[in-house]
Amino acid sequence: MIKTSLLLSILVFSFSSFFSVQCIRFHDYAKYSKFLTFSQISLPPSSAPEAAAPSPSYNDNDNSSISSSAVFNVQSYGAIGDDVADDTQAFKMAWDSACQVESATILVPKGFSFMIESTIFTGPCKPNLVLKIDGTIMPPDGPKLWPRNYSKRQWLVFYRINGMSMQGGGLINGRGEKWWDLPCKPNHKGTNGTIDNGTCDSPVAMRFFMCSNITVKDLKVQNSPQFHFRFDNCQNIHIDYLHIKSPSLSPNTDGIHIENTNDVKIYNSIIANGDDCVSIGAGCYNVDIRNITCGPSHGISIGSLGIHNSRACVSNITVTDSVIKHSDNGVRIKTWQGGSGSVSQVTFNNIHMDTVRNPIIIDQYYCLTKSCANQTSAVNINNIVYTNIRGTYDIRSPAMHFACSDSVPCTNLTLSGIELLPAQGSFMKNPFCWNAYGDWEALITPPASCLLEGMPELVVSSEGARC
Ligand SMILES: *[C@@H]1O[C@H](CO)[C@@H](O)[C@H](O)[C@H]1NC(C)=O
Ligand SMILES: *[C@@H]1O[C@H](CO)[C@@H](O)[C@H](O)[C@H]1NC(C)=O
Ligand SMILES: *[C@@H]1O[C@H](CO)[C@@H](O)[C@H](O)[C@H]1NC(C)=O
Ligand SMILES: *[C@@H]1O[C@H](CO)[C@@H](O)[C@H](O)[C@H]1NC(C)=O
Ligand SMILES: *[C@@H]1O[C@H](CO)[C@@H](O)[C@H](O)[C@H]1NC(C)=O
Ligand SMILES: *[C@@H]1O[C@H](CO)[C@@H](O)[C@H](O)[C@H]1NC(C)=O
Ligand SMILES: *[C@@H]1O[C@H](CO)[C@@H](O)[C@H](O)[C@H]1NC(C)=O
Ligand SMILES: *[C@@H]1O[C@H](CO)[C@@H](O)[C@H](O)[C@H]1NC(C)=O
Ligand SMILES: *[C@@H]1O[C@H](CO)[C@@H](O)[C@H](O)[C@H]1NC(C)=O
Repeated sequence: MIKTSLLLSILVFSFSSFFSVQCIRFHDYAKYSKFLTFSQISLPPSSAPEAAAPSPSYNDNDNSSISSSAVFNVQSYGAIGDDVADDTQAFKMAWDSACQVESATILVPKGFSFMIESTIFTGPCKPNLVLKIDGTIMPPDGPKLWPRNYSKRQWLVFYRINGMSMQGGGLINGRGEKWWDLPCKPNHKGTNGTIDNGTCDSPVAMRFFMCSNITVKDLKVQNSPQFHFRFDNCQNIHIDYLHIKSPSLSPNTDGIHIENTNDVKIYNSIIANGDDCVSIGAGCYNVDIRNITCGPSHGISIGSLGIHNSRACVSNITVTDSVIKHSDNGVRIKTWQGGSGSVSQVTFNNIHMDTVRNPIIIDQYYCLTKSCANQTSAVNINNIVYTNIRGTYDIRSPAMHFACSDSVPCTNLTLSGIELLPAQGSFMKNPFCWNAYGDWEALITPPASCLLEGMPELVVSSEGARC
């Protein structure tokens, strides 16, 4: 039984790594080809171990969010929560029991700090599962203590879960410091910025794979070794009141990365980290981002898309009522040369910039080395609206930068209500445009007079842009 389910999970994971490989986002140095090497797998729900498992307690009095539901306290399954003890097995047992009960709550109690190894929590589970994190959870402290036979690319994975709320006033502490200090990482004193293969792997803190109807709210997450949250092949994700915090020099610590994921809401969250605040990869659509504060960070990013001549389709993305401060970029779309597909129907509305290096940027020449050859195809960028974007920019770069592909121009960029002023002095750099078509409202600052009017005469075959 155990063997069969393990085998099944491995098969499923290999299959999904096969179909998602072309859409994988290559970030600074991370390579995801082996991303899905499996780590510790929680058994799929089977009948509860009757002798060992305590029965859940029923909280009939508490009619708050978990009224009349079964509560599976990890401490009832042997978790200690003293910072040191390995509580992995207790969490897995609590998960496997709760997974079989409708409206169950797995409780991680306040006042305790639980160390758990890399684990895959597997579904499907009964509906309305709640993972209530009131205490602290954390992984082993750094690469030396990471078990050798476990994947170093992910810590906690939620797999095939449909309908779960992860919430609570607790803390997810990724203990990333020793990972960021690996000699192969950028910013490390003494390296030459070399890209190391393999040895640089660092775990994503929380990974959701093939999940739907997931809510993540009220939690604090800090110091992930790599991305804090990553969603692949998921639907209906709602993130609310999340607080993500890592140092501005922590490498590759994106706040929330989504890929092949649709119907995503990211609301009321505060993110300070060392890489993209939110990054949106290939295959994402219907994404609504509202009232988030980013910074320091690398801003909100669509991309990078189209690596290794891959096709990427991203559409219907809205970012509104948000603040980006002390960041390398504000709102960015980045694509590699040679890709295909399109980014369209994107709106950036009502965004306040505070000392941002590239507040508005499209870069279709994204390249991590200095030697990416120019190619004739590109991910098509069209119907992008920038409206009510105000504040200050770091004068080392222009306030607007539209570097579009030679062969596939950006079209229908619309700018209105822009007021971006230098953070220091009064010298304004002119906006940069290359092969960028669009309309701008006369009163914006700085004037986007480098945009080309109308549509390009030579309309490229829409073949490559089909999504
Ligand atoms: C890793 O090794 C430990 C100890 O040998 C074993 O208990 C665990 O099941 C192994 N995990 C994986 C994912 O192979
Ligand atoms: C919660 O339950 C108590 C009795 O157990 C009741 O007095 C109270 O009104 C309930 N509160 C709500 C919000 O339903
Ligand atoms: C950096 O590069 C120099 C010359 O290319 C080399 O001698 C040195 O060992 C490199 N340092 C590291 C830490 O890789
Ligand atoms: C990196 O890749 C090169 C060539 O692909 C290989 O020779 C080398 O052993 C690899 N290094 C590590 C640390 O895996
Ligand atoms: C997600 O939840 C909604 C409403 O709670 C439900 O209608 C829908 O079927 C769920 N989606 C899936 C994939 O189960
Ligand atoms: C915006 O998000 C912040 C941070 O979570 C929150 O304090 C504030 O109430 C939110 N504003 C609105 C209008 O919801
Ligand atoms: C765009 O996404 C929003 C959710 O963010 C959704 O309500 C809307 O229907 C989508 N529009 C289209 C044209 O699909
Ligand atoms: C690629 O094209 C851009 C825009 O035409 C040009 O500025 C750049 O020099 C080219 N790069 C190479 C490597 O040819
Ligand atoms: C340009 O973009 C706007 C906003 O997305 C859209 O309403 C309009 O239809 C687009 N125009 C063309 C010609 O595609």
